[in-house]
Amino acid sequence: TEITWSAESAEKGGYAHFTIKEIYEQPKALKDTMTGRIVPGKKVKLDDIHITKEMLEDYSRIYIIACGTAYNAGLIGKVAIENLARIPVEVDVASEFRYRNPIIDAKTLVIVISQSGETADTLAVSREAQKFGARVIAITNVVGSSIAREADDVFYTWAGPEIGVASTKAYLTMLVAIYSIGIYFAELLGTQQESYLENLKKELLTLPEKVASIIADTTRIEHFADKIHTEKDVFFLGRGLDYQIAVEASLKLKELSYIHSEAYPGGELKHGSIALIEDDITVIASLTQRDLLEKMQSNIKEVVSRGAKVMAITFEDNHDVEHFSDEVIIIPNTMDLIAPILAVVPLQLLAYYVALYKGLDVDKPRNLAKSVTVE
Ligand code: AGP
Repeated sequence: TEITWSAESAEKGGYAHFTIKEIYEQPKALKDTMTGRIVPGKKVKLDDIHITKEMLEDYSRIYIIACGTAYNAGLIGKVAIENLARIPVEVDVASEFRYRNPIIDAKTLVIVISQSGETADTLAVSREAQKFGARVIAITNVVGSSIAREADDVFYTWAGPEIGVASTKAYLTMLVAIYSIGIYFAELLGTQQESYLENLKKELLTLPEKVASIIADTTRIEHFADKIHTEKDVFFLGRGLDYQIAVEASLKLKELSYIHSEAYPGGELKHGSIALIEDDITVIASLTQRDLLEKMQSNIKEVVSRGAKVMAITFEDNHDVEHFSDEVIIIPNTMDLIAPILAVVPLQLLAYYVALYKGLDVDKPRNLAKSVTVE
């Protein structure tokens, strides 16, 4: 039979939407972003970042400022950079940060994250920070963008053009940027054992094929998406980095499927939000942080005992969770610190398939623009 390719479907490389195409481009985006920067046996090489050990020792605080998904990447960045470089990091959304009279001086380092490099609030923060003497590192996916041009240092993510309004591959490569910068700082300051950093670099380099193995079989995710696509509310739960993953997964579901969802730290349930748990509510939980597994599993049992249906994302060696979850998505083992790169992928796919079952405009969700260049 003759295949009639519309210009647009050729542009989507045969995929139904740019969003799913970009989810499938993630192994390549990760590889391209790490190439030349993360090399086993070598120190991390960031050609466009010119920060020395002396400069780093002089900074009293680091801010990570961004919007939307880029902000959610910043939440992971705080945990990664504090764990690796032992420097205090504060994360904020650009539209709040710029109006709260922040403390910025020559001893401040600001990392701005922006896929488009044109987001008005993020660009405004970068300018304000430099006006008060701070140094600005930009993490961006667009060469020559305003934020890239004006920053003192740049880390380009090589995700390639991201057309889907919901950010997927750009987010994953922002995480690579943050881990690379965290390792770079740790190597400058000598805050970590060489062997640990070496393991981290080697493990990061295995992630492209681990992501490929996750996206190779989406049947269980599609099945669960079908089961929940008529829901009005969805809960996301997690502890530590699993909570940061839940925050990003919740945004993906909201902007792609228009279903209201909220991410909660597992430990917060008993402080109020468990009042919302009722029979048949959907709870999606990420369980990759091995030191928090037991506590997270008891959180899940709490919601299951109140009638929740649960989809859990967890490592292949954590079989306990199968006993009390309706659906378990297994991801390949990796180091806890970089687990978000794997755990978020099934949740991107879930949001995509829920939107598909609802017959929505996946690539262009209502009311949203790809880049918010106005305030
Ligand atoms: C994410 O899926 C959204 N499209 C949106 O939140 C986006 O992350 C935000 O507008 C920031 O855009 P930027 O990364 O281009 O600055």
